[in-house]
Amino acid sequence: MKKITIAIDGFSSTGKSTLAKQLAKKLKYVYVDTGAMYRAVTLYAFQNGFIDNSSFDEKALIADLDSIKIHFVFNSRKGFAEVFLNDVNVEKEIRTLEVSQLVSQVSAVSEVRTKLVQQQQEMRKDNGIVMDGRDIGTVVFPDADIKFFMTASADKRAKRRYKELLDRGEENITYERVLKNVESRDYIDSTREDSPLVKADDAIGIDNSDMGLEEQFDRVYNLILRYV
Ligand code: C5P
Repeated sequence: MKKITIAIDGFSSTGKSTLAKQLAKKLKYVYVDTGAMYRAVTLYAFQNGFIDNSSFDEKALIADLDSIKIHFVFNSRKGFAEVFLNDVNVEKEIRTLEVSQLVSQVSAVSEVRTKLVQQQQEMRKDNGIVMDGRDIGTVVFPDADIKFFMTASADKRAKRRYKELLDRGEENITYERVLKNVESRDYIDSTREDSPLVKADDAIGIDNSDMGLEEQFDRVYNLILRYV
């Protein structure tokens, strides 16, 4: 079987990473969650006092970018790679609503994008890769063998993310806060100057508002089989 590059982009909480993980498992490919990388940089900026809810010292973050090392380690028990920030596993810390509320500002900074995109491009190996994010099909791998662009209604996405946060034990969250975050992230991600979230011309659109996980997987996997 030929080993290919699969790019999955789309709006927040459309289940990109769930689908990407399923595909990577089935195809025995590497899976890279690029959102985790932007979240890790955001966590670093927050921990170092460069950003909070009311201010963002972009210059200080840019000056300190070389101190940020991000890498992934495969967790065989969980079946996917976890993200490390300067050798510390931050998989849990990066998924909080607090980080979600700051990440789109950090990921709009060109210097941050340049650093992470380079690292993402270096992760491509000959043995197949599934990468998900916002600019994979447009910027990171414009030559990807197959590209998907995922959408779903804001309400469905917020409900899924709200449940996920509750399951993780996060407190002080409401559906309304999560919905607001999903909408504001999509707005910032789609309107930023550098690498805005747009569907690549050659991407296949998947609206999963009313689609179960199994149906979605079968549909996407059958399309992929034409390329491998
Ligand atoms: O995928 P996830 O929702 O975890 O991504 C978090 C944020 O990281 C996005 O809202 C976006 O601002 C940023 N991001 C990005 N480019 C990517 C992946 C994520 O700008 N390739």
